[in-house]
Amino acid sequence: MSMRDVAPTDQVHPGDPVTVDRYTAGARINHWITATSLVLLALSGLALFSPSLYFLTELFGGGQWTRTIHPWIGVVLFVSFLGLFFRFWRLNLWERNDSVWMTKLRDVLANREEADTALTEVGKYNAGQKMVFWSMSLLIIVLISSGVVIWDQYFSQYTSVEQKRIAVLVHSIAAIVAICVWIVHVYAAIWVRGTIRAMTRGSVTGGWAWKHHRKWLRELVTGRSDHKPGATPAE
Ligand code: HEM
Repeated sequence: MSMRDVAPTDQVHPGDPVTVDRYTAGARINHWITATSLVLLALSGLALFSPSLYFLTELFGGGQWTRTIHPWIGVVLFVSFLGLFFRFWRLNLWERNDSVWMTKLRDVLANREEADTALTEVGKYNAGQKMVFWSMSLLIIVLISSGVVIWDQYFSQYTSVEQKRIAVLVHSIAAIVAICVWIVHVYAAIWVRGTIRAMTRGSVTGGWAWKHHRKWLRELVTGRSDHKPGATPAE
């Protein structure tokens, strides 16, 4: 494992923070393609959603371009999220401790995670992150399938007007919920200090891992995982 905390003492300089690898370059590129496509999708979708937001079409070269590009960005988001899904689904499986963590949400939000017992030590992802993961997975499936129904350029002859009406409604609701989930995700990443660097540099400090994902850190240090093959330092 490429952790600086296990390097021989002569290579550790006093004052250097101990760091732990969390994401490979591949995972980070995959994540940022997903993030960029969701932002562009939200902007182009909102531009088409309400006349008051029509000015946003300027970002995409006008109304016609926005209409053409929006579904294709959706395809990019879908494929890119599929990559994230296959990388991380196993680590997001719900465990008994996650339900306990949920009951302590108040402590977590108040930055009092130290009050936790061994029972609630968190693995690579906490219950909140897992909920974001599964709700995004579901929402993206709903968005792409309802989106195809209203993608007139290629599929208009396969669907009825009635089906399109329902699909527009489902698509809009799913999009609004997805934007809310995205806001929660970004807010949490900023709120828990030291998290953003996981996705920019690929590593976190040992202190961050100990405080927020102690079970994951223990598994890394001992090289043992309860049941998951995914306890590698970075994926
Ligand atoms: C543009 C703003 C975004 C920012 C600043 C951001 C930031 C982050 C950060 C810092 C992490 C690492 C969290 C950790 O390791 O504890 C992360 C993980 C992740 N992000 Fe994002 N993200 C953004 C957008 C998105 C979008 C749009 C999606 C999906 C549609 C997404 C899906 C994920 C997934 C799946 C993970 C791995 C965590 C898990 O599997 O539970 N992110 N993000």
